[in-house]
Amino acid sequence: MSVRTRPHPEQQAENNVTKADLDWANLDFGYHQTDYNIRYTWRNGAWDAGVLTRDESIPLHIAATCLHYGQECFEGLKAFETRRGDVVAFRPDENAKRLIRSCKKILMEPVPEPLFMAAMERVVNANRHYVPPYGTGASLYIRPLVIGTGPQVGVKPATEYMFVILVTPVGPYFKTGFKPVDLVVEEEVDRAAPLGVGDVKVGGNYAAGIRATMAAKQRGFTEVLYLDAREKKYLDESGPANFFGVTQDGQYVTPASPSILPSITNKSLLTLAEEMGMRPVQRPVAVDEIFEFAEAGCCGTAAVITPVGSITFRDRKVVYSKDGRAGRLTTELYQRLRAIQLGDAPDKYGWVYKIPPPKE
Ligand code: PLP
Ligand code: COI
Repeated sequence: MSVRTRPHPEQQAENNVTKADLDWANLDFGYHQTDYNIRYTWRNGAWDAGVLTRDESIPLHIAATCLHYGQECFEGLKAFETRRGDVVAFRPDENAKRLIRSCKKILMEPVPEPLFMAAMERVVNANRHYVPPYGTGASLYIRPLVIGTGPQVGVKPATEYMFVILVTPVGPYFKTGFKPVDLVVEEEVDRAAPLGVGDVKVGGNYAAGIRATMAAKQRGFTEVLYLDAREKKYLDESGPANFFGVTQDGQYVTPASPSILPSITNKSLLTLAEEMGMRPVQRPVAVDEIFEFAEAGCCGTAAVITPVGSITFRDRKVVYSKDGRAGRLTTELYQRLRAIQLGDAPDKYGWVYKIPPPKE
């Protein structure tokens, strides 16, 4: 990787940016080292000024609440380079708000939205040459997280917190990219309970689902589709993404459930589906409805839209894609979303946030 010597990241002007030497078009969804992460500490009732660091490790007290009682939550969003060379993030204010909800739900110190936005701008600017070039299909994944760092042995909230953002250039979450994947309906494992924490982005939800995902992969599926934990009758979501179906008459249908993560991508697709005349609806979706859909997809920041080629439920399999291609409406939704994210279509809804380059 060729990275030339640069001035301090917070003084570096936009036109000083030389792209890192990476195989952008073939990046996987993995951790690729960048130059800086940023971290803030909450202590004695206030967040500090934050520091950009090259250190990829975090020193932790052995009794930190994140280690014992799962006081951890995170976010995921992406920055893109547009055709004009701007660096933009997609709906970061929504991630800031969701992080606040996650923090509050597990009694952690919330990160104020202005602090979230400032931190994101600082860390993206410090790693600007890792923002994948326009047209490569890759993006800079931004991963904010909050952890309880103060020590406790009894089950109670920490008295100190850390807010960290790491960034890493990524390719598609599912290695096939925009190609149909095979899901299996999961009946043995619940990801989240109706009155639990499934509606916020806490690490424990992913720990709960990891064995289901790995077992599904071993059986040749790409991912699982969870059912509601109470009745085992309605669709919840997939492991890393929300789910939607398209009915035979072109309606966009996506599950409403108290135990799924309110996806910012799905919220955006509900708007785009409305524009396309797809009469979008968010409602409980009985698992049997999968056999009626004409198309289906997973949606999320990492997954973008990943078309679903088939779903297996017990001994039945419904196939949406026989030719290895996504359905027409799924494809159009994907193209509309990507065009907005990359600045190729007008940003009618104010979703695209330009990250101003650092001042000289
Ligand atoms: N559901 C789960 C469990 C997720 O981890 C994600 C990813 O963030 C999503 C849904 C999609 O949410 P978003 O579109 O806000 O990234
Ligand atoms: C995201 O889409 O940003 C997520 O956090 C999902 C994660 C499983 C990669």
